[in-house]
Amino acid sequence: MLKNASVAPAFQEHAEGGIARMREDAAACRRCPLYRDATQVVFGEGPERVKVLLVGEQPGDREDQLGHPFVGPAGRFLDGCLEEAGIDRADCYLTNAVKHFKFKRLGKRRIHEKPNTGEVRQCAWWLGGEIAWLKPKLLVTLGATATFAILGKRHSVMADRGRIVDTQVGVPALITVHPSALLRGRGRPGAEQERARFVAELRKMKRFLKA
Ligand code: URA
Repeated sequence: MLKNASVAPAFQEHAEGGIARMREDAAACRRCPLYRDATQVVFGEGPERVKVLLVGEQPGDREDQLGHPFVGPAGRFLDGCLEEAGIDRADCYLTNAVKHFKFKRLGKRRIHEKPNTGEVRQCAWWLGGEIAWLKPKLLVTLGATATFAILGKRHSVMADRGRIVDTQVGVPALITVHPSALLRGRGRPGAEQERARFVAELRKMKRFLKA
């Protein structure tokens, strides 16, 4: 048992009503203070009979407004990489480690703030429920927050990027970067190679699912 992993070991109970029920319950979530400033909860989306769950960090500004995961710039970037890897987004379940947008205000702008350990741990209740209900063959952790949410501190993106490792919830996880990080790095030296590496990791996911 990976004691410090965030995804709760006792996650079965509340998953019993399925995704629709969890989505409804999560809309009233008060497990951490992030609900106060966010517009709405952004629950995971995708088919129920799914082989892979892609886990991001938290909804961004656009996702918070629209109520769907990965529909802003990072989502579009991810879509392009999935397409290049020959993967249909409609075959994936996309979700986040934290289901509310955390931000600070700067004038009229809302600037993304990284969720803290406590927020990730509280929200693991929902992520654990999604995994328990969907029983995918593979999890893909996009970035440090998702990696921590699924694996605790046993693994990191820096040390384990591209590896498929065992998890506490019985579903292996492929560790990779967050598309936002690649998006931020665009135009810098090495950015194209980083993107190509990410696409190669998505192809690895595809091969794993086919095997
Ligand atoms: N970044 C994430 O981690 N998740 C989203 O849904 C959008 C951007």
